[in-house]
Order: sequence, then structure tokens, then C-alpha cells
Amino acid sequence: MPDEARTRIDLPDTVTFAQHIAPLLWENCTPCHRPGQAGPFSLITYQDARRKAKTIRLVTSKRYMPPWPADTSFSRFLGERVLNEGQIALITKWVEQGTLPGDTSKLPAPPVFRGTSLLGEPDVVVWLRDTFRIPGDGRDRFVITKAPFELARDTFLRAIEFVPGNRRLVHHMNGAMINYADGAKRDVFWSATNYVNAEEASGPTAFKALALENDDSSWPALVPSAVNYLPGMAPVLPPEGIGGLFVKKKGAFLLNSLHYGPSARDTSDRSHFNLWFAPQAPSRPLQEISMGSNHTLVEPPLHLGPGEVKSFHTSYVLTTDISVLTVNPHMHLLGKKFVAFAVAPSGDTIPLVRINDWDFRWQYAYTFPRLLPLTKGTVVHVLGSFDNTAANPNQPFDPPRDVTGTDSRFMRTTDEMLQFFITYIDHSPGDERISLSADR
Ligand code: HEC
Repeated sequence: MPDEARTRIDLPDTVTFAQHIAPLLWENCTPCHRPGQAGPFSLITYQDARRKAKTIRLVTSKRYMPPWPADTSFSRFLGERVLNEGQIALITKWVEQGTLPGDTSKLPAPPVFRGTSLLGEPDVVVWLRDTFRIPGDGRDRFVITKAPFELARDTFLRAIEFVPGNRRLVHHMNGAMINYADGAKRDVFWSATNYVNAEEASGPTAFKALALENDDSSWPALVPSAVNYLPGMAPVLPPEGIGGLFVKKKGAFLLNSLHYGPSARDTSDRSHFNLWFAPQAPSRPLQEISMGSNHTLVEPPLHLGPGEVKSFHTSYVLTTDISVLTVNPHMHLLGKKFVAFAVAPSGDTIPLVRINDWDFRWQYAYTFPRLLPLTKGTVVHVLGSFDNTAANPNQPFDPPRDVTGTDSRFMRTTDEMLQFFITYIDHSPGDERISLSADR
């Protein structure tokens, strides 16, 4: 890459914290590495950075931090946090020169981040029912829980934000929204238990334990993936009139699931949701295409013998003209590489997303900077490769076992999946100019 060669040559003779490293850390690391956020230590002051200098060099040169699995040479998204070769070389040189402070008296004040919410004052706050106690036994936990609500009337939501109570431990959350039809459910708040261990019960068993069914035992309507959370990801606020979710006055968020990272000491979490109402019904409602496991044919059938490394494919033909907002790749522990691209009827290839080194902990829904139009007849292709050898550091079994694809109703992390979700709206001319950035 010529760009790379140029930035390498442009390295300053002397690299200092004050002049070079602080701005880089503040922009790319401090959003998570500061008190009360997901990162396990702060990266704000010279002392913070010097103490961690060698590990910082290691994790940045291996591109483990900042976490951003999507390949930016393939497609670009909002909120990217990726260091270029020049910035990585700068960190390396700073460490090799002995972590010089430089003139820290010339440093501007460190960045000030907004309070709990990323979008300002919410219209309504919906809390999880109860506090979750996390024992200090160093284990990951996956729980299924609910956050029920009763609003003044049926309405539309413009945006939903999940706010973890314990940012250090809440690692990710995938949330569906339940809408109860009028008269279908008397008490949305009650249930015998508030937290179900997702490794012990899932699907209908878990949903019943949380008393999510209608009073007559039928199942209410559910909007999958209505709200997701990963550390460092800002919620998307689409332009007025686009997206927006219809919500009945009685409902609940179904957190399916909520992943807590390991803790060395006993602690707890109580998370909440912020809701923003839309002033009127969105003229262009959000829709979703679901591909892969449980949705479109995966070929060959998803199965990995012990020690096997294998690739699988699925595809989908668009039946209308659409404009894409976000794409969300999904695999489990054994995933290695993921690529999704579209082939237009004209023969043009449109890159969607590529992940060269899959990490199941960082499953972002990627938002395009602008709406991405795809015409009717376009074929979306998804390829995923998996590594079921003992050499895979995320291999959950020793020795490796036979692994099969799973039915999402009874999903376990140790089964495998190849899925791809596209959120879109029906296409209108000029969509490619509509920005999805919150500060448009
Ligand atoms: C999106 C949030 C986020 C951003 C941005 C981020 N980190 Fe992290 N970082 C984490 C989390 C969470 C962990 C702990 C879990 C883990 O190791 O995966 C972590 C762990 C680390 C570790 C410890 C790794 C280890 O194995 O001990 C280092 C060092 C680190 N980050 C450095 C950085 C640097 C340097 C940057 C910026 C260039 C950065 N991080 C950006 C969230 C983030």
C-alpha cells in the first residue's frame, strides 16, 4: 500500500506522549478506557499510558485494539475505530524510544464525554426488573431477561438505547421487542424469575419462565434485533421519517441474551433502556432481510467434524429495490472469516462487509455512512469459514468435537451459525445522498 510506505517515512524523529500519543489514545482508546467504561483500565494520562506501554504496543500492532473486526479496505462504516499503519508505527517508536512524556504542560484538557445517554434526554426510561448479582468466580455468564413497560398509548419509537449499569462487565446484548395486542396481557411486569441462565434454558422454556406469553398462552408479536449493544458502539439515529419502530403501549424488551464478562469479585448490574418517541409514524419503516441458518439454505449443510476447517455459502436474491442502512454478520466461537457482497444484475460487485479474523465478542451491526441502494435482482452472497481444530484459540472443546448448525430457538454458543442480517428501507431516488451519521 503506497499510503502505508508514505506514513512510515513521515514518522517524526522523536515521538512524545504530549505531541503524538495523547491525541491518538484520546480519540481511539479513551471512549472505552476511562473510569466507568468497558475497558479494564484508563488510558488518559501519561502515567496511564506509560504503565501499559508494552501491552499497548502489542495489542495495537496485532490490531486486537481498538476492536473493529471489519476490514476497512473492503467497505466503510460509521464510527470506525481503526489505527492506520502510521499510527501503529508511531506507538511502536514511542515505546522503543523509552515512552518520552514531551511537554505535557502543552497538552489540551482530555476529552469530556457526555453523560449516560449518547443522544441527550430520553422521553422514557425502561429498567430491567431487578438487579443481577454477578459472583466473583471469573466466569462468563449469558442470561435471558426482560424489561417490561407500559406507555401512555401505542406510538412509534425513533431510537432505543441500551445503557449498561456495569459497563466493565456487560459485554454484549441482543434485544428483541415484544408488542402485546390490546387485551392480550394483563400484567406485563410479573414473572416468577427475572433472570434465566441461557446455558441452561433457552427459547420457549426461557420465555415461559419470564412469563412473556399472552394470558391465553399464545405468543405475542416480536421484533427481533430491535436494539443491540456492544461497548463503544453509538446507537443509530436515522434521519426523521426513516426507520422508527411501532410499539404497543404494553410491551417488553426481551434480552436474548445479555453477556456478562468474568469478574474477580462479587458485583452486580442493573441496566436500562432509553426511548425516544417519533413525532409521527415513519413514512419509511425499517425492514430486515435474514440470511443463513434458519432463513436461507446454507451449503453445504453446516457441520464440522473434529479438526475440520471448512467454508459455507448462502445467498439471497432481492425482489425489490432497497436502500441498506446496516449489515450484521453473525457466527459463533469457531468462525474465522466472513464476507458478504452483492452482485447487481449489471454484473457490478458491491462490497458489503469483510471480516478477516472473526472474534465472536465483537459482533457489531455495521452502519453505512449513507444509504446504500441495491436494485431488484441483485444477489447477496455470504461466505463464512470455520475452524474446528485444536489450534483455534476460541475452540471451546478439548479435544474438538463434532459441531452442527443450530436451530436458533434452542441456540447454544457452542453450536455454530452462519447468519447475515440486512436492515433496509424501500428505495427512493436520491437515497445514496442520505447520510446516516448522527451529526449530519
Ligand atoms: C470499544 C471499546 C474499546 C476501545 C475503543 C479500545 N478498547 Fe482496549 N479493551 C476493551 C475491553 C472491553 C478490553 C478487555 C477485554 C479484552 O481484552 O478483550 C480491552 C483490553 C485492552 C488491553 C488489555 C489486553 C490484554 O490482553 O491484557 C489493552 C492493552 C488495550 N485494551 C488497549 C487499547 C488501546 C491502546 C486502544 C486504542 C488504540 C483500545 N484499547 C481501544 C475495550 C476497548
